[in-house]
Amino acid sequence: MKILVTGGTGFIGSHTVVELQDKGFEVVIVDNLSNSIFEVLDKITTISGKRPLFENFNLVDPAATADFFNRHSDLKAVIHFAAFKAVGESVQFPLLYYRNNIGSLVNILQGMTDHAITDIVFSSSCTVYGQPDQLPVKEDAPIQKANSPYGNTKQISEEIITDLSNSANIRAILLRYFNPIGAHESALIGELPLGVPNNLMPYITQTAIGKREFLRVWGNDYNTPDGTPIRDYIHVVDLAKAHVVAMERMIGNKMKKNVEMFNLATGNGSSVMEVIQSFERTSGLKLDYRILERRLGDIEKVWADTTFANEELGWKAERTLDDMTRSAWNWEKALANK
Ligand code: UD1
Repeated sequence: MKILVTGGTGFIGSHTVVELQDKGFEVVIVDNLSNSIFEVLDKITTISGKRPLFENFNLVDPAATADFFNRHSDLKAVIHFAAFKAVGESVQFPLLYYRNNIGSLVNILQGMTDHAITDIVFSSSCTVYGQPDQLPVKEDAPIQKANSPYGNTKQISEEIITDLSNSANIRAILLRYFNPIGAHESALIGELPLGVPNNLMPYITQTAIGKREFLRVWGNDYNTPDGTPIRDYIHVVDLAKAHVVAMERMIGNKMKKNVEMFNLATGNGSSVMEVIQSFERTSGLKLDYRILERRLGDIEKVWADTTFANEELGWKAERTLDDMTRSAWNWEKALANK
C-alpha cells in the first residue's frame, strides 16, 4: 500500500517513515528540504533496509503538486507533516506561515479529491487548546484563540479538513501532538534544528555538547510545583507508531466519524526543571543553566488526557522521560562524532 508522507525527511516524519516501512507500507516522501537534509534518506534506508521513494518540490506550488498526484494516482493515503513550526518566526512573518502551511494543505486536498484518495492523517498540535481551563486536557476541550500565526495555521487546517469532509469523500485523523522529543534508538535519525534551537530538548543537548554556552530557563515564577512551566513530553518513536495505528484504523474502515482527533501524549506533565534533572541523570553530566525572564507567549501548564487515544485508537506511549532524554543525548553525541 502506497502512502504519501509529506515532510518525511523531517524530525517526526523520518521516524514515521521508518515505522511505516517496518509494517510493510510503501512510502513516497515529498519534502523540499527547507528544514531537513537529503542524508536523512540514507539513514532511513539503513534502519529499514528499504529506501523510500523521494521527490523534492514545494507543495505550495499548485502545478507541481497536481503533477505529483497525476503521477501517483495509486496512492492509498496521505500523512501530512510538511509545515513551518517556529512560533516566534510565525509572529514575525505571518504571511510566510499562512502561505506555506495553508497553501500546501489546500493543494494536497485538491490532489486527493481529484484522484479519489480519501484518507489523510494530519499533524496537529496541542497548541489548539491554548492554556486549557481543565487539566488534563481532553479532545473535546474548547479550541482557544491561537497565540501565534503558527498555532492559527493548525486551527485553520483542522477546520479546512473538517469542512471538506462534509462535502467531499474525505476522511481524516487529526493527531494533536504535545511535545515530541527524543530520537531513534539507532541514533541515526533525530531532531536537526537549523541554527539556534527554539525548543527545550535540542537546546539542552547542544548546551551539554558545548555548542551553546548555557540553557536559558524561561522563568521559574509560574504557578507550578517548582515554578517552571509544565508540558507533556512524548518520545518521537511512540508518536511515530501512533501514525501507523491511525493509518491502519483508516484503511481498515474502523473510524467512527469522518474526522477524528486524538491527543498524542503520555498523560504525564513534566516541568522544565524535571526535564533538566532527567537529562542530568541519564547523561551523567551537570547542565549549565540560568533562570531568566518568562518567554513571551509561553503557557503555564498543559498535559493530556490520553484515555480516548488509549481506548479508541488502541495506542499508548510506552517510553519514559528518561528514555527521551537518553536517546536525545545519544543522538547529539552521534552528530558530534560525524
Ligand atoms: C510550542 C507549542 C507546540 C509547537 C512547538 C513548536 C504550545 C503549548 N506548544 O511548544 O505546539 O509545536 O512550540 O516549536 O504552544 N524552554 C526553556 N528554555 C529554552 C527553550 C524552552 O526554558 O531554551 C521552556 C519553555 O519555556 C517551555 C518548555 O521549555 O516551558 C518547552 O518549550 P518548547 O520546547 O519551545 O515547546 P513549547 O513552547 O511547549
